[in-house]
Amino acid sequence: MKKKIFITRKIPDVAKKILEKENFIVDCPSHEKAISKEELQTAIREYDGILATLYDKITAEMMEEAESLSVISNYAIGLDNIDVAFANSKGIKVYNTPDIVTHSTADLAWAIFLALIRKILPANQYVRKGKWQAWDPSIFWGEELLGKTLGIIGFGRIGKEVARRAFGFGVKVVFYHYRSLQLEEDLESSVQQVSKEHLLENCDYIFLHVPLTDETRGMIHEQTFKAMKKKPVIVNAARGGVINTNDLIKALQEGWIRGAALDVTDPEPIEPDNPLCQMENCLIVPHIGTATYECRTEMAKKAAENIVHHFRQRGD
Ligand code: GLV
Repeated sequence: MKKKIFITRKIPDVAKKILEKENFIVDCPSHEKAISKEELQTAIREYDGILATLYDKITAEMMEEAESLSVISNYAIGLDNIDVAFANSKGIKVYNTPDIVTHSTADLAWAIFLALIRKILPANQYVRKGKWQAWDPSIFWGEELLGKTLGIIGFGRIGKEVARRAFGFGVKVVFYHYRSLQLEEDLESSVQQVSKEHLLENCDYIFLHVPLTDETRGMIHEQTFKAMKKKPVIVNAARGGVINTNDLIKALQEGWIRGAALDVTDPEPIEPDNPLCQMENCLIVPHIGTATYECRTEMAKKAAENIVHHFRQRGD
């Protein structure tokens, strides 16, 4: 019998095409919005496979009701939206899209960082509002990168690509990773692994590139901000939950850090009246790290191929 797959959100057509070519029955919601919890629950109950996005919270309770579901393919690298341990205990395989997201996410981390420290958004507003009447020697001063120290917390694929992009700017790169790492040749001589304490104390800029897990949830909080002696700019293109939001607000208000560039927030989406959205030294974009034509298309392909691979392996 043909297997039924539900794609929870509008993603590039290539995913549906790959699955249909392999004889799956593929359904998608009839609307373009995120599906409701009830629609997701129904899909989990009725389908053999779900191609999910990172906003689909797939809990143990929801999977209790699964009957034929044997695979969840997440259209993301992060898997924090899925109770993977429970899925596995029920024999449901969970896949993600690693590798593919690396470059676009590293690019975006740099984009929001540079936009913040060089005041690109307010400068653009100044031009749009007709305020640019003459060259002005004293407006929109930012920071030069040469000679500064950039610290990366989480030195996986994305963290490493962030480091590689740093070299062109002449910044020194240090990183903290939860275990000791054997580095690739090009990184070995140019980055230094340090303790978390050292990184917090000595960096002008701190980029977060850890997955959201029980260990990393809220890992940046009041005490960690206070340990950041150089009042750094923080960049988070990982998951909002890695930073305690109330403490981040306080850190910006009290000047414990100079700024924050965020692709992710907690909660997400963030309400426009949240203090973070009102602060000049905080730049927020709506979780667009992987939003490039190249990356999103490849993610759609990979998410579909993961499902094909899954059923092939089972011999279905
Ligand atoms: C994006 O946040 C992803 O996890 O792919």
